[in-house]
Amino acid sequence: MLECPFKSFVVFLLLLFVLQFKDGNPIEIVANACRQDLTSTKVSLFPFPPVSSRLYFFKLLITSYQLLMSISQFNFPTTIRFGAGVIKELPDYLKKNNIARPLVVTDPNVAQLGFFKAVVEDLKAKGFAAEVFSNIHKNPVKSDVYAGTDAYDAHKADCIVGIGGGAGLDVARAILLRINHREDLFKYDDLIGGDVYVTNDVPHFVTVPTTAGTGSEVGRSAIIADDVTHQKKILFSPKLLAKIVFADPMLTMELPAFITAATGMDALTHNMEAFLAKNYHPICDGIALEGMRLISLSLEKATKNPDVESRSQMLLGSMMGAIAFQKGLGVVHSLAHPMSSLLDTHHGLANAVNIPYGMKFNIAGFEDRFRRMARALELKDETGDGVVNYLFDLNSRIGIPHKLREVGVKEEHLETLADLAFADFAHPNNPKPVSRADFRALYGEAL
Ligand SMILES: NC(=O)c1ccc[n+]([C@@H]2O[C@H](COP(=O)([O-])OP(=O)(O)OC[C@H]3O[C@@H](n4cnc5c(N)ncnc54)[C@H](O)[C@@H]3O)[C@@H](O)[C@H]2O)c1
Ligand SMILES: [Fe+2]
Repeated sequence: MLECPFKSFVVFLLLLFVLQFKDGNPIEIVANACRQDLTSTKVSLFPFPPVSSRLYFFKLLITSYQLLMSISQFNFPTTIRFGAGVIKELPDYLKKNNIARPLVVTDPNVAQLGFFKAVVEDLKAKGFAAEVFSNIHKNPVKSDVYAGTDAYDAHKADCIVGIGGGAGLDVARAILLRINHREDLFKYDDLIGGDVYVTNDVPHFVTVPTTAGTGSEVGRSAIIADDVTHQKKILFSPKLLAKIVFADPMLTMELPAFITAATGMDALTHNMEAFLAKNYHPICDGIALEGMRLISLSLEKATKNPDVESRSQMLLGSMMGAIAFQKGLGVVHSLAHPMSSLLDTHHGLANAVNIPYGMKFNIAGFEDRFRRMARALELKDETGDGVVNYLFDLNSRIGIPHKLREVGVKEEHLETLADLAFADFAHPNNPKPVSRADFRALYGEAL
């Protein structure tokens, strides 16, 4: 969006540069014409004094060149309907979009919950031919996606409504991809550049989160494992964004305490790792700081004594984390991913136990970033150590263990975990490089 105006601006300046030699002093015209555009970019520019020299013209040219060189792209296109009771809008929304035969995708556990049955009953009562697909694994695998695609075909569905935590929503998104992309699912693995093959249209896609953790509802990727090797693949494309998210905190009210704590720590990890990630994205940085603030205000309450406010803040904080982590993640997610693939540890729990150690690793050289996180978390101790102590303390308060051995990791797992962590996709965006030896040392410390 920014690119075109800047390009035309530079062409404009070059034109006037030529004119300069022709008829003397066009500088004032340039400055007046550009004053509004340049100041509205909020990039720190020189003040606009009365213009009278050629030097000033060259400054304009150099500044515009610098702006061009630092052009970034920021995308935030998802429509989110948020609030207690907003799920009631789903049937009207589908009707307005001429949808009659939704395939509702979830996991087998959520499929049995009262609120889920009520949503499906409501759709049926309003004349929709709604079919449920819920036969998926806890850590979803490729065959789940193929079975879901068969269900879509058999039902002659015209839309996918994903309702669930990260697992249900990831399978829904992967089915969405497969409907019009029928080659082997892992051909589209983003880690091997497979996103370029996602070229066809996808069906209408609606997401409804029921955990406050992964934020998959606002994401563009699905994490699906190989049935045999359990290796996780990432299916990614901007086409896989939901057309609309119905984020209703009431659907998360009955989340058990342990799942609230683990998924909540996943959301906190997203915000903190995104804020530290080395890519340039000040918009995501701002979202991440506010996301971590909301989670720090509400996670303990949501875990121990939930009310609508704490559930609402957690749901927002988790969506903000997922929006922010388009900037990147880091060492903590790379420590966590192998624990899910090797030991089937819940993703949020794996992050929760590892985050204090991963954050401690990142402090040196990034003290200012830690100070900003400490302020967002409203800590008295604004140092990196203050942030790490806060994380250990928060884990204690919400029932998350401090040590990996308490969640089933054993000494003999550490070498394999370190190999897998080093090969993981998340840590290249960590603010500082992480070697295999670093991963081994971090697991050793956390054991
Ligand atoms: N797409 C992404 O960007 C992304 C990012 C991180 C993780 N993930 C994936 O997300 C998955 C983890 O997601 P998650 O942490 O949301 O957990 P989850 O989806 O595995 O859900 C955890 C448990 O909570 C239950 N549950 C869900 N909603 C409930 C509710 N309202 N009330 C009671 N129980 C409920 C589920 O049935 C399940 O047993 C993993 O498969 C991970 O790979 C995806
Ligand atoms: Fe995560």
